[in-house]
Amino acid sequence: MSEANYVGMPSALPTHVTHTREFFQALDNFTRTFAFRPGDRVLFLTDPLLDPRVVDAISGHAKARGASVRLLMESSSRVEEIPGDAKALLEHATFVVSTWFCSIIDPFAIALRKKGQRWVKITYFRNLDLLHAPQARFPIDLVGELTRATAARYPTGRAFDLHFTDSRGSDFRIHFTPEMRENMLSTNRWRGRMGADEDGCYVHYLASHGPNLWDHNAVRNDLSVPTRMSGVLYPQWAVGFARPFSERIGVHFEGEYVCRVDGESEEARILREMLVGGRMIEGGGCGFNPKAPRHTVYPAGSNAPGALHFGIDLVKPADYIRRTMPDWEEPPIHVDLVTLDATVRAGENLLIDNGFLCALRDPEVVAAAARFGDPVELLEAGVA
Ligand SMILES: [Fe+2]
Repeated sequence: MSEANYVGMPSALPTHVTHTREFFQALDNFTRTFAFRPGDRVLFLTDPLLDPRVVDAISGHAKARGASVRLLMESSSRVEEIPGDAKALLEHATFVVSTWFCSIIDPFAIALRKKGQRWVKITYFRNLDLLHAPQARFPIDLVGELTRATAARYPTGRAFDLHFTDSRGSDFRIHFTPEMRENMLSTNRWRGRMGADEDGCYVHYLASHGPNLWDHNAVRNDLSVPTRMSGVLYPQWAVGFARPFSERIGVHFEGEYVCRVDGESEEARILREMLVGGRMIEGGGCGFNPKAPRHTVYPAGSNAPGALHFGIDLVKPADYIRRTMPDWEEPPIHVDLVTLDATVRAGENLLIDNGFLCALRDPEVVAAAARFGDPVELLEAGVA
């Protein structure tokens, strides 16, 4: 027995058998996400480290649709606000493709989207080869189904808490009023619209980064409105650290702000230095793409279903981030804490159970997935 060559599991198929089919699957998601209309004026907000083939691919698709393209390159993607002299170009555009950090939160950009401008953020498409990644070909319609099925769990017509717990002792609550729920869940991604075909939309490509279980969309992006939240998180990991933490590090909040970080390890010391006084911005960015790798948290949190990241804006730029990730796509004023095993409830309703996104087994999601293949393989055969 000891000399036998056991083969109990299938070996991978040769790539020439699967490669072309999978590539064209991914291209369908690509063209439907970049839903250019004839006459669209497309503006790229780009940076020098973006693979030029990404710009070429999107520009070629725009040309095929009768849209025109302009490029505006800043010195990095870590742009914290729209520069004044970029505003006229932006105002003229009908469609924006952006790598810039400030895309989601800059008031000028938000106002243009309110007037109908469509945006695609390409933090997860910085290299054309990503079209061959499993998450690129996972049907965007199913990402939308999973998002809608999760949204349906938020209680209607009454206030409730979004409650995060895990086996390490995390116990964190964010209070929702009915109005906050309506504000947040009316945004295009929460409605499961993953293509940039709708006026005013904001989507991510690759379709992987959440929407957030809570963010300032709940208060119509008015950052002066405080949100009731408090408790403690014990993150397993954070972007910018090579591997998960060995210590149980407690990050305590008073309202939206970090008041204390407990722990003795080097990682705890670094987090304490960076986080105290920082403000919760993404409470929790949730993954919704079953083919996104679960243990890849760079550049901005794992996007596997039910994996969470908590984005915190810092009081001052962190030297640790400047040293360890000088070319990070985000500025050193932001930290993403990661938990891969959270349990999350909205009121009484379970959204995530020990890191498993409950919507993956909803009958309507399974039925939708069956149109594309075996639902169990599509939804539950994750990528480590
Ligand atoms: Fe995020």
